[in-house]
Amino acid sequence: MKEVLHELERRRASARAGGGKARIDAQHAKGKLTARERIEAFLDAGSFEEFDMFVEHRSTDFGMEKTKYSGDGVVTGWGTVNGRTVFVFAKDFTVFGGSLSEAHAEKIVKVQDMALKNRAPIIGFYDAGGARIQEGVAALGGYAEVFQRNVLASGVIPQISVIMGPCAGGDVYSPAMTDFIFMVRDTSYMFVTGPDVVKTVTNETVTAEELGGAFVHTTKSSIADGAYDNDVEALLQMRRLIDFLPQSNTGPLPEVESFQGVDEPDHSLDRLIPDNANKPYDIRELILKTADEGDFFEIQQSFARNIVTGFGRIEGRTVGFVANQPMVLAGVLDSDASRKAARFVRFCDCFSIPIVTFVDVPGFLPGTSQEYGGLIKHGAKLLFAYAEATVPKITVITRKAFGGAYDVMASKHLRGDINYAWPTAQIAVMGAKGAVEIIFRKDIDDPDKIAAHTKMYEERFLSPFVAAERGYVDEVIMPHFTRRRVARALRMLRNKDLANPWKKHDNIPL
Ligand code: HXC
Repeated sequence: MKEVLHELERRRASARAGGGKARIDAQHAKGKLTARERIEAFLDAGSFEEFDMFVEHRSTDFGMEKTKYSGDGVVTGWGTVNGRTVFVFAKDFTVFGGSLSEAHAEKIVKVQDMALKNRAPIIGFYDAGGARIQEGVAALGGYAEVFQRNVLASGVIPQISVIMGPCAGGDVYSPAMTDFIFMVRDTSYMFVTGPDVVKTVTNETVTAEELGGAFVHTTKSSIADGAYDNDVEALLQMRRLIDFLPQSNTGPLPEVESFQGVDEPDHSLDRLIPDNANKPYDIRELILKTADEGDFFEIQQSFARNIVTGFGRIEGRTVGFVANQPMVLAGVLDSDASRKAARFVRFCDCFSIPIVTFVDVPGFLPGTSQEYGGLIKHGAKLLFAYAEATVPKITVITRKAFGGAYDVMASKHLRGDINYAWPTAQIAVMGAKGAVEIIFRKDIDDPDKIAAHTKMYEERFLSPFVAAERGYVDEVIMPHFTRRRVARALRMLRNKDLANPWKKHDNIPL
């Protein structure tokens, strides 16, 4: 008996050693943790239950039968984050560069199936060289099995990918189909084809960092939703994110204790809007003063900064915030901002997370580059996302809500449940200057007349009251009670019951 116990210990120790000390040292020398260290840091202490520790590849080409490592380059299993179940897999770069073999894929597929069956989030830590080159088509098949499961799980359980090293070739498409991708600065990069292939095909000379580093993917491509300075920070932030998310599309909203009441007025908000309507202010201030304890997990902070998206809590329950940001491009809606917010709204709707929208938007961004780039279709994505969403939707118009952008930003007409406006709100087809120049074109050369028309237009239309008279806003509220009003509305909406007509799926303008 003792002998077999020793044998198990010996085998476990061998599996835990991955690709061996030299490769682990090399991993650490690059500032990276190993696969197991990542899982340990991410999960609650002692909660990790590993599966398939002894799985080996079955390849016999290129002398592979002589090189086998228990676990075959990926560590899989489940554990808890603050007590809630999460499934995990972590690519082990020390074993064949974390590359994906048939057996390696089967391990990932097993935890994907378990996560879906047991309705719990799944998170993958990537650090890998793509398909196991020695295996060929078996590895390709393995990838597709993983992709298929990503799609089936989409909208049912949260799926998160963290890129912590190379992520190339076949490895990129599974993360791309998950809900969120995060990266680690300087040590991670993601691309379909690497710098060498790029050089051969297009004759461009580019480094891995320039082609697919964290900066590129968080600011230009919007592939990644955020980036962190090192592995430990990324893993701790992922624990924070998991705390905001429900376990599945049928699970309840997570609820944590809130230490901040909602009845206290915040008079600083009465001074948030500058006297000059063209002056910017930071909409993040309103988000932080509305969310419990100012705790806000921002998504895509560095991309399309003219709109802010992220998770917070009100009275301990998760909400998704979407807010135009007057500090960047005056908060205008362009293609990037529309796409960014649309994806976020759809995530919230999938997982029954109420959406709080703060509106200060001068309209859609004019120009050939926007129109040629498909602004109509991208703007429609956000319109579509808000219109189809059945979760509680609360909207607060702080200042401008002009033109089509007024409609898009969770207006009453798109089934906004509670639509508030601050007294500073200006809800109109367009700003006074543009309106007067069109309606009173004949007076354009008479500055006095134009000034009088502008004043008249501002007084008549640039207020919340024209919309309030029609019931398009439910109430004009004091800025200092925004948190209280939003919290009460969310409480009232807890049992909201609204469904869209049956369909196989919709046809959102992609
Ligand atoms: C087998 C691999 C491997 C792979 C790396 N290794 N990639 N083994 N298959 N795909 C092994 C190396 O042989 C080496 O083994 C160890 O991992 C570390 O690799 P290094 O090259 O020494 O590390 P580094 O210099 O950091 O470079 C990392 C890398 C590079 C950039 C990822 O290894 C690389 O370019 N790998 C190949 C990438 C690739 O072309 N993959 C296939 C993509 S095609 P030892 O024993 O020395 O430690 C694809 C198609 C799928 O994925 C499409 C499905 C839709």
